[in-house]
Amino acid sequence: MKKIVLSLLLIVSGFAQDYKAKDFSHLMGMPGFSNELLQLHLKLYQGYVTNTNALIGLLNGYADNTQAYQYQALKRRFGWEFDGMRLHELYFGNLGGKSELDPKSPLFKAIERNFGSFENWKKDFIATGLMRGIGWSILYFDPSSGRLFNAWINEHDLGHLASGEPILVMDVWEHAYITQYGLDRAKYIEAFFKNIDWEIVTNRFHP
Ligand SMILES: [Fe+2]
Repeated sequence: MKKIVLSLLLIVSGFAQDYKAKDFSHLMGMPGFSNELLQLHLKLYQGYVTNTNALIGLLNGYADNTQAYQYQALKRRFGWEFDGMRLHELYFGNLGGKSELDPKSPLFKAIERNFGSFENWKKDFIATGLMRGIGWSILYFDPSSGRLFNAWINEHDLGHLASGEPILVMDVWEHAYITQYGLDRAKYIEAFFKNIDWEIVTNRFHP
């Protein structure tokens, strides 16, 4: 409770804390992901955190000049940087696992209900990730209908399902694999699937 009050006070007083890059160094040594690739990717992620904080500061600077073209251009940019930051946290956060999804889990059963079988879902999730372009493949849960969808997100910000909850997030920007796999995105996706932390993914699912 004290923490919430303090956070509210910080926000109201204009001293909301900057976002801090999360530590994903435990992923180093993950099979199928070279340290070089992971280090590069984590550095890019940290850039999104830096830029999100920078944009918040710049937008505050235009608080009295909201008709300025610069304010509006920065405002348009905000979702791109913020989503870039958050999606990477969800992506790295759902890696580092070693076990399969428990067939008795509510998520497994929901996947079967929505896609017919786990294999059908996986096939569609991979097909989504193989689409031409740079972006993300995301398994979304729509709490209002109880349905699951595999969504293609263009870049970081286009295609999100409003009020949908991201359950499994896969980065398919070229920087996520090209230094190790060249243009073979399918091979990278194979490595991604071998490292999904299904426990984390299951914990994101609240039917
Ligand atoms: Fe990325």
